[in-house]
Amino acid sequence: MAGLRKSILAMLAISLLAIAVSQEIDMLLINYHIHITNNLPLENNVPTLLLHCRSKDDDLGERAMYVGDDYKWDAKINVRHTTLFSCNAQWTKGKQRHFDAFTASRDEERCQKYHNSCLWSVRSDGIYFSNDNSTWNNAYPW
Ligand SMILES: *[C@@H]1O[C@H](CO)[C@@H](O)[C@H](O)[C@H]1NC(C)=O
Repeated sequence: MAGLRKSILAMLAISLLAIAVSQEIDMLLINYHIHITNNLPLENNVPTLLLHCRSKDDDLGERAMYVGDDYKWDAKINVRHTTLFSCNAQWTKGKQRHFDAFTASRDEERCQKYHNSCLWSVRSDGIYFSNDNSTWNNAYPW
């Protein structure tokens, strides 16, 4: 009887471990989509936003964005959960802001809610975040 109880406990422990490991693997396999949209006031035929994003390993280069442009890239979380993409945003009207577009520790849960997307909207009063494409918060005022 004690032997049976022990093997049931062992099987339970192994199952729990297997679940934890597979959840961790699922997390590492998620392809997160990071969107940054230029929602600044309309100006015709000139880019209003200069965006430069990078991680430790990837420099995504500088982008000149027109109003309405949506810049998107994908990111996976590394095994140590230290993935970080930060961006410099410059509104040609003279405002500039540095912000973290994706950090594993902050975003791995919240950005799973809506198609694994982290959504950013650059507006006249700051850089807004949404994880459902409906409620937006001014996370980084200019
Ligand atoms: C968010 O919603 C807008 C308006 O409904 C839509 O055009 C856009 O494609 C959505 N963004 C994403 C990333 O799904």
